[in-house]
Amino acid sequence: MVQGLYRELKIRSYDGEKDRARVEELERGCEIVGPADRVFLYTDTLGDPICRIRNSPSFYMLVAESGNELVGVIQGSIKLVTMARPRGNLGLARVGYILGLRVSPHHRRQGIGSRLVRSLERWFVSNHVEFAYMATDKENKASIKLFVDSLGYVKFRTPTILVNPVSPNRALHLPSHVEIKKLGTKEAELLYRKFMSSAEFFPNDIDNILENRLSLGTWVAYYKGEAWEDIRYEGVSTGSEYWQGPRDWAMVSVWNSAEVFKLRVQGRAPLSCLIYAKSCRLMDRFFPCFKIPAIPDFADPFGFYFMYGVHCEGKSSAQLVRTLCQFVRNMARKSKDCKLVVTEIGARDEVRLHIPHWKLLSSPEDFWCIKAFNNEEPSSLHEIAMSPPTRALFVDPREV
Ligand SMILES: CC(C)(COP(=O)(O)OP(=O)(O)OC[C@H]1O[C@@H](n2cnc3c(N)ncnc32)[C@H](O)[C@@H]1OP(=O)(O)O)[C@@H](O)C(=O)NCCC(=O)NCCS
Repeated sequence: MVQGLYRELKIRSYDGEKDRARVEELERGCEIVGPADRVFLYTDTLGDPICRIRNSPSFYMLVAESGNELVGVIQGSIKLVTMARPRGNLGLARVGYILGLRVSPHHRRQGIGSRLVRSLERWFVSNHVEFAYMATDKENKASIKLFVDSLGYVKFRTPTILVNPVSPNRALHLPSHVEIKKLGTKEAELLYRKFMSSAEFFPNDIDNILENRLSLGTWVAYYKGEAWEDIRYEGVSTGSEYWQGPRDWAMVSVWNSAEVFKLRVQGRAPLSCLIYAKSCRLMDRFFPCFKIPAIPDFADPFGFYFMYGVHCEGKSSAQLVRTLCQFVRNMARKSKDCKLVVTEIGARDEVRLHIPHWKLLSSPEDFWCIKAFNNEEPSSLHEIAMSPPTRALFVDPREV
């Protein structure tokens, strides 16, 4: 550790006017790093480094400065979510999410990353956060060692990221016996609260997500001949919704991440969706075999649609999930910069089996780890972390 640097390091709140350009420069500097045989995706925050947390109910960004040099950055957001509580109960917990931790390559292994995380944790604690969590690629040894070995986080979940390219030349054919309907935001919210509120990390402010300008809508699919009855809220007296839906149905909501940031093949993406160079080189040769008419051109910055809340009911709903995914890919074709459709699904959630994805991308796995603050006994945290991930996991589109 370089003691001099450590002493003069200043950690303070991000100031848009003063720091914007320097944070973007730091982002760019961090991206090129990576094993030589891989290609990373890298992020362009379109002049707004705080864009990834701006849509959260409460957020904070810190920078680390050494003299006049900006050497590190971290972001965090706070929300109320469903979580497994000790002794198998389910309840609401106030959680802090850590993201966008970057330390300039020239200043690593000097304790800056740890200090940034600890400063953010103090903000969490002062805002009554019970648990902090973060997600990283399972190959990111530096990040995992920092959080798990050094800062006391424990491994929690390992959801899978599924990526599909948008077919630029022709629309995918949707089966004629499937009906697709767009829901209003209120109806979508009721559906979410009825069917998904027990999913791990389901956000209590789902209405804010659905009403956000980046949320393009929620669609349901069901077989023709069945009826989709609008869901009704029965009111405070019963406190429940009334709904008799079709026997088989599926739903998906879409978030337009392309509006917030763009990716470029070469660096590291917030989703950690890494494209292996080997796969990239093979693309041209292999894709004709998969009957994909053309591979999108990834040379220019591009965006993606993120599918969240993918859910299905009924024994024959697999085809409905697939149809909705195709529907979203067709929708993405019409957007200028959108070249991928991405989703992230809990490791044991069976819906992932029905989601078409790009096999060559070898489905990167996310590594989620978690830490409890004072109000939880370490043993309870252990119990929560060890609880089997049987429930669906809600991946918040604001955090991709
Ligand atoms: C991950 C990252 C933020 C670490 O920052 P840092 O300032 O170097 O971390 P620290 O100096 O505080 O490291 C603390 C401890 O973490 C572990 N650690 C950090 N980097 C490591 C590495 N490259 N290899 C192994 N262990 C590492 C070590 O245990 C280290 O303690 P030590 O130096 O006494 O052995 C930095 O490498 C980085 O910016 N990486 C690129 C972006 C990224 O991956 N961000 C995380 C995504 S959430």
